[in-house]
Amino acid sequence: MSAELIRSDIGEGILTLSINRPDKKNALNLHMYKALADGLIRADGDEAVRVIMIRGTADCFTSGNDLADFLSAPPTGPESPVMQFLTAISTARKPIVAAVNGLAVGVGVTMLLHCDLVYVGSGATFQMPFVNLGLCPEAGSTLLLPRIMGHQRAAELLLLGEVFNADKAHTLGIVTEICPDGNVVETARSRALQLAAQPAAAVRLAKNLLRRDYAPQLRETIAEEGRQFIERLKSPEAAEALQAFMQRRKPDFSKFN
Ligand code: COA
Repeated sequence: MSAELIRSDIGEGILTLSINRPDKKNALNLHMYKALADGLIRADGDEAVRVIMIRGTADCFTSGNDLADFLSAPPTGPESPVMQFLTAISTARKPIVAAVNGLAVGVGVTMLLHCDLVYVGSGATFQMPFVNLGLCPEAGSTLLLPRIMGHQRAAELLLLGEVFNADKAHTLGIVTEICPDGNVVETARSRALQLAAQPAAAVRLAKNLLRRDYAPQLRETIAEEGRQFIERLKSPEAAEALQAFMQRRKPDFSKFN
């Protein structure tokens, strides 16, 4: 199943990982996280791969973690597929290019913080509704977002969890370039080809140096966020938010302090 939901193709030095579950807005389940983690780990050791590209389908990048999985198979620790994915993407030695069309929600946004070049369609929308779900931010976003844009702008995105557009994402500094919708994958691929033609060892070194000063703190932050996230999944607030999503109603948090 995971082989279809995450497509993996290698050509011209580029490993393309395509998220392909359009009927669920490309929500990432356990098998998909595992397939993404495996693909990233394999790419690191495969000499045929010089660049990794991550994309979704024509009108959706990903709606984030599968919310049904949060109820039926929540992450339990560092060995969970989601944590394996976050470790793999945040420590990848080779450059990662993202092509984002349409929706990017939750980890669909925070994974972009670990990509090197991020191309998005002009109609793409972004949202990090972790707090809205009674959860907490993940993927090192509590360290990386304030570094990129300052506390107050990061806090707005994380505490209010509202949808924002491609222009705002670009202004805030989490996107490399906005492309016309329909041209995103082509732009990302041509940049990936350009990267693949660069001297690979020099690219890897530069990427590593770019992260050197915050890498240890990032590892620690991802682990701490992960621990807190697992606890939050057991909270009454998260239970209310997840039930509300399943029942297609607005959550009511007024009874919790
Ligand atoms: N997990 C599980 N299923 C999801 C999902 C997710 N993250 N996102 C969408 N789906 C499913 C919907 O339940 C629906 O399934 P159904 O057709 O079997 O009922 C299908 O995908 C289509 O979604 P729908 O809500 O009808 O589409 P929409 O265009 O109205 O809204 C979203 C799209 C992404 C805005 C909305 O689905 C949403 O808010 N999803 C949750 C996003 C989220 O909170 N992610 C986790 C962040 S930590």
